[in-house]
Amino acid sequence: MNKDKFLIKGLSGKRILHGSVTVGGAKNAALKLMAATVLFKDKVTLKNIPEIEDIKRMADLLKDMDIGVEKRAEHLYLFTPTVKCKTKFSPDISKHIRASIVLTGPVLARFGKVSFPHPGGCVIGKRPIDLFLDGFKKMGAKVKIKNDSYVIETEGGKLTGATIFLRNQSVTATETFMMAGVLARGETVIKNAPIEPEVEHLANFLISGGAKIEGVGTTTITIKGGPLLSAKGKTHTVMPDRIEAGSFLILGALAGRELEIKKCNPEHLEALTETLSYSGVKMKISKNSIKVFGVVPSIRLKPVDIKTHEYPGFPTDLQAPMTVFLTQVNGESLVFETIFEGRLNYSESLVGMGADIKMMDPHRIMINGPSTLHGKVLESPDLRAGLAFVIAAIIAKGGSVIHNVYNIDRGYEDIEKRLQSIGVDIVRMSEE
Ligand code: EPZ
Repeated sequence: MNKDKFLIKGLSGKRILHGSVTVGGAKNAALKLMAATVLFKDKVTLKNIPEIEDIKRMADLLKDMDIGVEKRAEHLYLFTPTVKCKTKFSPDISKHIRASIVLTGPVLARFGKVSFPHPGGCVIGKRPIDLFLDGFKKMGAKVKIKNDSYVIETEGGKLTGATIFLRNQSVTATETFMMAGVLARGETVIKNAPIEPEVEHLANFLISGGAKIEGVGTTTITIKGGPLLSAKGKTHTVMPDRIEAGSFLILGALAGRELEIKKCNPEHLEALTETLSYSGVKMKISKNSIKVFGVVPSIRLKPVDIKTHEYPGFPTDLQAPMTVFLTQVNGESLVFETIFEGRLNYSESLVGMGADIKMMDPHRIMINGPSTLHGKVLESPDLRAGLAFVIAAIIAKGGSVIHNVYNIDRGYEDIEKRLQSIGVDIVRMSEE
């Protein structure tokens, strides 16, 4: 784990960033495809894998379980599933990555048992795993807790298809049961499933390997269990990261002269582009790119209330950068975080930079803009809020230092180099 910090010289409200940034492969899609390789009988090649810390952790976890992971070139990986794999997750690795939970589905389905500690990841609220445990029980597995680890075992080595209604529309629970259902006996039906593009992307990857999945893109997904999947030498490309694209868009709206966000899928970003456009931001949306034109200071941006919601609503993962945007608009905006209850705590640091933000309750903040933000020493609390701090530091007056950059590296590849290329004064330094 690196111990780095960023030094950022603020633009004092100037709109000067220009050029283009290319969006990488989606973290939250790539991690799930990596887990799904366990369901294949042959080698799987994945390209457009982002070179970020969470991917490294997932690769370490797979390798620790004796699954072959080979980096062939930048962003290109070859996975070799084994006939026998260790079914105990390394606590050291899995406690650093929440997405390790999705690996329980394919491992349990293929090898009949799995044991793992409570998964780690971002500190953004409770992050329970009750839906996972309940769903596995419905599929006929026995769940025990031994020495701080969950131990889950199937009867006779196989899961049995079941109908699972998700009390909350959980992305990773849906992905886990979809993968588990691929090798289960009979039919698995997931009801109240979220329709996030990453869920659809995983379903299409499984289908390309021979899985029988219906209802993709709807809230009821049906999986007919069958044999191991086969990649047949095909290479699968990871979809573009909509959260990374959205964050660059917000940065462009605040500090860009003209910024092009390349290799993104604007269809996945409608909640954001509609909101920015309502507020007064000018964009040119094409098939795979978006051009954003920085708002001339004399144009008054309108306040806008946002409420995070499952897709296609406003993504919780863009809530923190959007809050930074709202500190610069004229008037009062409400941000209502409906998915995670601890995901507004970062706003205190924005107040420290000069923002006028009032916490109404753990789910709602009121922002009164516009405020001049002042550079500050900040600590990145999680990857999305970390990037929001980078954006705040870029538009601020004066210099900022952002510590705990590891949290940003978890989700964004070479972020400082890409920001430097569009005119941001940012340098990485070791804490030592
Ligand atoms: C995924 O998290 C993403 N992570 C998150 O991205 C994202 O914020 C979130 O979906 C929502 O879009 C990955 O894909 C690895 P949930 P996930 O289960 O699946 C409740 C980022 O920054 N719940 O969809 O863990 C939960 O508390 C990350 O990249 C239960 O109650 O989120 C929440 O209120 C952070 N019991 C709601 O469901 C459970 O067992 C939705 O969470 C599981 C979840």
